[in-house]
Amino acid sequence: MRVLGIETSCDETAASVVELRPGAAPKILSSIVLSQIEEHAAFGGVVPEIAARAHVEALDGIIEAALADSGTDLANIDAVAATAGPGLVGGLIVGLMTAKAVASAAGRPLLAINHLEGHALTARLTDGLEFPYLLLLVSGGHTQIVLVRGVGDYQRWATTIDDALGEAFDKTAKMLGLPYPGGPNVERAAKDGNPKRFAFPRPMKGSAQPDFSFAGLKTAVRQAATAAAPLSDRDVADICASFQAAVSDALADRVGRSLARFRAEYPGIAAPALVVAGGVAANRQIRAALETQCAQNGFRFVAPPLELCTDNAAMIAWAGIERIRAGLVDTRLGNDDAFAFVPRSRWPLDEVSAPVVGSGRRGAKA
Ligand code: KG4
Ligand code: ZN
Repeated sequence: MRVLGIETSCDETAASVVELRPGAAPKILSSIVLSQIEEHAAFGGVVPEIAARAHVEALDGIIEAALADSGTDLANIDAVAATAGPGLVGGLIVGLMTAKAVASAAGRPLLAINHLEGHALTARLTDGLEFPYLLLLVSGGHTQIVLVRGVGDYQRWATTIDDALGEAFDKTAKMLGLPYPGGPNVERAAKDGNPKRFAFPRPMKGSAQPDFSFAGLKTAVRQAATAAAPLSDRDVADICASFQAAVSDALADRVGRSLARFRAEYPGIAAPALVVAGGVAANRQIRAALETQCAQNGFRFVAPPLELCTDNAAMIAWAGIERIRAGLVDTRLGNDDAFAFVPRSRWPLDEVSAPVVGSGRRGAKA
């Protein structure tokens, strides 16, 4: 089975072909990701209208390139899978409409994929992970812990009650005059900084509620930056190092809650796994803190390669393969709800868990 995946939910235009042969590990035949970062940098964040137009301009060429790279053509594709939400609606419309056109022209079924499901199932593409496992998704738009029980079977255990973690990095960078995207620049600046100079709060640390919060930390950073202004390079480095220390500490504590819950609910699983996804998972200090937390709790720490942790289309193609394999889609041409699917800017993985107060806020990248 070969599936063409298309991803346009934020500021990456991506296409990929993933193949699954019986008895073999899945194979990414091609994965092309065009980042729009430069087009948005001047504005300090993603501008939805610019993103949508950039997707329109690039997408057909990216799909052609992904097909060419994979050494196959549309005639040898079994289905087309496209991100249909959540995300910026302009980009979603571009991706899903293009996918509908390609699928109908090729006479192939279409799958409307939830972007978060792509992140959730990536570890099965890269590491062949068995269900159930825990997913920590930390990106510019999302900060959640999800129990992944099966394809289409997710339970959200924790979410942010205010900002997403990537958003907190981006806003911290902006306050300190560091360029967008903030995460990598904050990490770079933190390297030479003193993490003990500022005693920033560890939001919700020790709380029985498993959720995340970063707004208070952001305010503390703003106050420290205002008090120390004009900021020297040393001040910026120290604030970044202190911020990153607070984030790592708080994150490890919050994740620890859910690891304990998983242990209690699945006592029979000897070596359970925590999977990370999202751009923030690139941060070395955060990774180290999570690794330590996992080791202390007897969990395996699974971090897919960075290019598959951040937004890409291979995870969308793979989610399509998983759905077909699980019998969750009707693959008969013309008898598929996906052709009638309207993009959803909000589309929680777990539609049952009530939204947490304040969680409706959207990050720069959501
Ligand atoms: O997953 P991603 O590429 O896009 C979505 O949000 O969907 O994540 C981007 C986010 C941005 O907020 C960026 O600042 C953050 O991930 N990020 C980092 C690092 N690299 C990217 N945050 C902390 N440390 C990093 N090294
Ligand atoms: Zn994403």
